[in-house]
Amino acid sequence: MIKPAEHILVIFGASGDLTKRKLLPALFELYYQKLLPDTYSVLGVGRTTLDDSSFRERMHEELPQHIAKEQHNRNLLKSFIHKLHYISLNTSVVKDYQKLIDKLIILCGDSNQTKNYIFYLATPPSLYTTITEALAYYGLNSNRNNAWTRIIIEKPFGYDLKSAKELNGKLLRYFNEDQIYRIDHFLGKETVQNVMVTRFSNGIFEPLWNRNYVHHVEITSAESIGVENRGGYYERSGALRDMVQNHLLQIAALIAMEPPSVNNPTAIRNETLKVFQSFKPLNRSDIEDQIIRGQYTSSTFRGNKMKGYRDEKGVGLESRTETYVAIKIYIDNWRWGGVPFYIRTGKRLPTRVTEAVIHFKPTPHKLFCFDEMQMNRDNQLIIRIQPDEGLLLKFGMKVPGTGFRVQEVNMDFHYSDLGDVKVPEAYQRLLLDCMNGDATLFTRGDAVEEAWRFIDPILEYWKSNSKNILHGYPAGTWGPKAAEELIEGKYLTWRYPCKNLTNDGIFCEL
Ligand code: BG6
Repeated sequence: MIKPAEHILVIFGASGDLTKRKLLPALFELYYQKLLPDTYSVLGVGRTTLDDSSFRERMHEELPQHIAKEQHNRNLLKSFIHKLHYISLNTSVVKDYQKLIDKLIILCGDSNQTKNYIFYLATPPSLYTTITEALAYYGLNSNRNNAWTRIIIEKPFGYDLKSAKELNGKLLRYFNEDQIYRIDHFLGKETVQNVMVTRFSNGIFEPLWNRNYVHHVEITSAESIGVENRGGYYERSGALRDMVQNHLLQIAALIAMEPPSVNNPTAIRNETLKVFQSFKPLNRSDIEDQIIRGQYTSSTFRGNKMKGYRDEKGVGLESRTETYVAIKIYIDNWRWGGVPFYIRTGKRLPTRVTEAVIHFKPTPHKLFCFDEMQMNRDNQLIIRIQPDEGLLLKFGMKVPGTGFRVQEVNMDFHYSDLGDVKVPEAYQRLLLDCMNGDATLFTRGDAVEEAWRFIDPILEYWKSNSKNILHGYPAGTWGPKAAEELIEGKYLTWRYPCKNLTNDGIFCEL
């Protein structure tokens, strides 16, 4: 792996949750693997009054809770923590940024060499513009004397198409598109990247990967947790904005994209953009017919009393925000015309699982099928994104004995079979890629806007029709019953996955 060029990583919002739970553990993992530059500094910036030593003390307590047990090496932790620095400043006050300049000069050291910078905005999105303006005011936005500057921002990238365009416009006023790294952490997941590798490094799948052989595609991202302490944010968001507009449409794009001509960020992101541009727009009646919204209600699940969404902190008593959404979409292009893509996500479902299922068309002539149900059996390729990461192929085999009875069997690969190979955390991969200037796994501004262009009419319709159906589903179940009927075809239904890749069809999470 390439070791990145020397740089300083400045994290705005360093006293927040993301820094201690994801960013610093990912950086430590890179340090552990000797993938950080030899001299390295992380500068935390936040409103909380701390200095280098109090920030280090804090992180010394926090970090061990978020890293793997086998990495608890006292000396390494100590030397890593020594690389952390902190300044407190009011991010909304431009003149306060002089403190940042002063600190950067100190960190650049005696050599007074111009350093490369990454600015990571781990802040609420409302501060993105303020911070970029202030950085630009001090000239920290542009590449200088062979030194580069990059900026990382986290989703949400806007609230709808209009605000996404505004955000892009503001960012592009001060930074070039190739300096902006928009994180969709799903793209950092090893198994999401493996969608491309499965498709484009094997000769056997690609010839079948089209409307002639694929009956439909199913993408599920289920979570067993509720909204936790994020009720305030979630009320304004809902499942469609929170999961579908970004993570799940990205997965759909990787499944549906054309093979890029070369493996580089522009070629790959051009192809995913084309998928977004091909989503068939939904009109009013499509929205009514092709989308199911749900909200979890209180229930007793595995002996535990579970709150309904409306009882969660920060949530209105009459909230109509969806915590579940299932949607049928079409991709209007040569490869996928007429093939439905079913996407569903929800909070407080029975288990945490994300996977995509490619359902192949059944054989044209049923030689060995003796009942109607068997007739509709299809071959499925299941791409398990998390947990029990792996691939599963379902197909028919002869049951030993007389006659020609067919039974569905599994051919499976689990990442865990690779023994000592660890599936890295998304942030680790994404931080390293940004340090190395590889934007392949980051969302480009035009793709963000295109995804909103598809989602916007749905949000508009829901907003202007306050009576649109919102199904209740008891916490701990697979969501509204109505979602069952969304999948067309007799005997066809969603796959009900379990924690273990190969178990399905039963509620086996005990
Ligand atoms: C985030 C959403 O983007 O992704 C959360 O805001 C969701 O609501 C999370 O829980 C899921 O990510 P992961 O990596 O835990 O599957």
